Amino acid sequence: MNTVMSSTAPEKPMLTVLSGKKPKRPPFWFMRQAGRYLSEYREMRARAGSFLDLVYAPEMAAEVTLQPVKRFGTDGAILFSDILIVPHALGQTLDFKHGEGPVLDPITKTSDLSRLSLDQLHKIAGPVYETVRQVKADMPPHVALIGFSGGLWTVASYMVAGRGGDDQRAAKRWAYGDPEGFGQLLALLEDATVAYLLEQVKAGADVLQIFDSWAGNLPEPMFTDLVIAPTSRLVTRVKEAAPHIPIIGFPRGAGPLLGRYVAETGVDAVSLDTGMCLTYADETLPRNFPTQGNLDPQMVVAGGPMMEREMARILTSFHSRPHIFNLGHGFVPETPVAHVEALVGRLHDWQDTPA
Ligand code: CP3
Repeated sequence: MNTVMSSTAPEKPMLTVLSGKKPKRPPFWFMRQAGRYLSEYREMRARAGSFLDLVYAPEMAAEVTLQPVKRFGTDGAILFSDILIVPHALGQTLDFKHGEGPVLDPITKTSDLSRLSLDQLHKIAGPVYETVRQVKADMPPHVALIGFSGGLWTVASYMVAGRGGDDQRAAKRWAYGDPEGFGQLLALLEDATVAYLLEQVKAGADVLQIFDSWAGNLPEPMFTDLVIAPTSRLVTRVKEAAPHIPIIGFPRGAGPLLGRYVAETGVDAVSLDTGMCLTYADETLPRNFPTQGNLDPQMVVAGGPMMEREMARILTSFHSRPHIFNLGHGFVPETPVAHVEALVGRLHDWQDTPA
């Protein structure tokens, strides 16, 4: 008897979609659904002291993971953690400065790699796996628990720049000037990310998402080497050990390279950013290939009729394929909860709309 399969016995609409089928109502969850736009998050964050203290406190992190599920009835619960936990668990210093985002002490050359090691990975990330176990134990059975990591290129670009921002110049200069040295960083990150994702699966994650937030703005051969190839290796290795686990890729900014990303990485579904043309995506992707995403987070800040029109446009565009409703990028802190409630109300109703 296969205990792994039987543990997913109650129908989870997200898993139905990810297996290539269409449930009556498209399931939904939101990127950054746990976060500062929610007062209950801000309270918990204040109680924890800092963002990292919150991530490494399983009981609180599990509660934060479930806050949007309880409030909005989302079909997915995304683990409360961060893509930068992997570099932190490899030994890089990490701090989330108020109003500034993440700050790391930069790794810019091959000799810096000696500062990183896999030895403490599971010890440092252990509380994150414990969060997964606690969420799994407390979660409604129809909800899917989404584990995640960053894409290797995206995480590497933070490690090299030492900070956030929409400029990958430091990582590009290393990757283009010394592909072999940069390849060593990617290889270490790959080993760490595979191990980190597999521990999340062992702890109870139902789905994995790979956030490659900075996949855009690369020349095509570099997109091949830095996004497609590392993602393909990651997916292959995770699936070797956990063949049942569906993996959603999020190659933000991939544009016309979307089709190649899907064909060559082996992901089971793709999350579409706000700028993606939906007609193009629908024409490019294989029949029945599941999609997710694309509502502009700023639409939810604005709310009102345009937000609802956009919601309907997205759902209608993907009417003929399995689809998970989501944003094109995460909620911003200014998002009014009332607008999320209005959106969610419409999404719950959508099942009544004739096909
Ligand atoms: O609901 C969820 O999605 C919660 C889990 C989650 C967080 N970060 C929590 C978080 C996830 C999936 C992420 C992914 C993440 N983190 C990405 C990929 C998606 C994307 O947004 O592009 C990236 C690039 C990061 C790196 C990161 N973490 C940045 C740039 C920042 C600062 C910007 C900001 O919004 O503050 C963070 C911090 C962070 N990660 C917060 C949260 C809730 C805010 C921290 C706080 O409470 O002050």
